[in-house]
Amino acid sequence: MDKLKITGGVRLEGSVTVSGAKNAALPAMAAALLSPVPVELGNVPMVNDIRTTRKLLAELGVRVTLPEDHTVRIDAGGLARCEAPYELVRTMRASVLVLGPLLARTGRARVSLPGGCAIGARPIDSHIRGLEKMGADIRTEHGYVEATARRLRGADILFDRVTVTGTENLLMAAVLAEGETILRNSALEPEVVDLARLLSAMGADVEGAGTPTIRVRGVRELHGASHRVMPDRIEAGTFLVAGAVTKGNIEILGAEPATLLSTVEKLRETGVLVEIDGDRIRVAGVEAPRAASATTREHPGFPTDMQAQYMAFSTQACGVSVITENIFENRFMHASELVRMGARIRIEGARAIVEGPTRLSGANVIASDLRAGASLVLAGLVAEGDTVVNRVYHLDRGYERLEERLGMLGARIERIH
Ligand code: EPZ
Repeated sequence: MDKLKITGGVRLEGSVTVSGAKNAALPAMAAALLSPVPVELGNVPMVNDIRTTRKLLAELGVRVTLPEDHTVRIDAGGLARCEAPYELVRTMRASVLVLGPLLARTGRARVSLPGGCAIGARPIDSHIRGLEKMGADIRTEHGYVEATARRLRGADILFDRVTVTGTENLLMAAVLAEGETILRNSALEPEVVDLARLLSAMGADVEGAGTPTIRVRGVRELHGASHRVMPDRIEAGTFLVAGAVTKGNIEILGAEPATLLSTVEKLRETGVLVEIDGDRIRVAGVEAPRAASATTREHPGFPTDMQAQYMAFSTQACGVSVITENIFENRFMHASELVRMGARIRIEGARAIVEGPTRLSGANVIASDLRAGASLVLAGLVAEGDTVVNRVYHLDRGYERLEERLGMLGARIERIH
């Protein structure tokens, strides 16, 4: 298993370009199942979750090719099977995103229940309840969701709690359903808006994506489309924190600043300088950033996917930062690894109390999930001496060549195979 070795103490300088958003590319690849005509996606990040999704689509009899760099062409004309096997789903929960499209396109779907992951139980009850309201007959047995529907029919669906992939799954199911579907209390995440953009380009009739109420009028068939995946706001946020925590000065290119304003504002609250100029964001760290508490919320609130990275930064801020995690029930595992590097963090239920600034010293640490891994890399950038981050496969799921790109900003970081 690969490791990343980081020697801390370098102030990052230079510019870095943001990749396409993993969490927009995944639903977009699932959406291609809805049409017999090929869909071409640009700006797709070459990360392991995308590779897993390619394997999953191939399992279904779908042709996936890479006509050029960061471009994926999906031809679901030959869609032959409708089962997403456990071996694939357990490595990537987002595989559940094929449930809605398969049901809408073929009337059948057999998808392994994703099971929990490090950050929480992550049930899909809202996905299932919504599909049932649209007329699907769903049984869960032997660890699989078995769904059938002659033809899905439009329904008025209220999410009892905001769910990003739940909104995406039902949005994709609705575009081919008979009649009108209303999705209430929908997720407002930019990735939902990006998916709606693709579906509309494929001929779907969708209104209100990005607002709590999405209206969909079902159509008989969708055609192909080509679509450029939006930039990754969490990767951009991660680089922002890298510049801030190392007291460096970096420029992020190709971002969509409007999608990460809560992260930008939080860093500004600590005294870090952030300037936005079109799709470029410049961040300059300061000698003594102030502690600022953060509470994760659904978009446009402070993203749960930035919580671990921000915690690493908070260890260097002057004062006490209270970080509250409202979205997942177990998303503080990076805290104990940061403490091993010298951070002063106390967990009280959904709150992590971080006292700073603390001198961090390099250590052997373990990544428990994608963003926890990012947090440990950020801590390694400022720690004294060498940090070795183990289980880098978590990072490779969502960050493309992270060590190369941080290296181009001056970081002393290498991959140990
Ligand atoms: C998406 O996960 C993202 N993944 C996650 O990013 C992100 O952390 C999360 O949204 C929140 O923003 C993708 O988009 C592929 P949810 P998702 O359904 O859709 C509970 C990363 O790091 N819930 O919005 O699975 C759930 O347990 C990943 O890239 C139910 O109870 O998250 C959680 O506590 C990690 N029942 C909360 O809602 C349901 O049916 C939010 O979950 C669905 C969700």
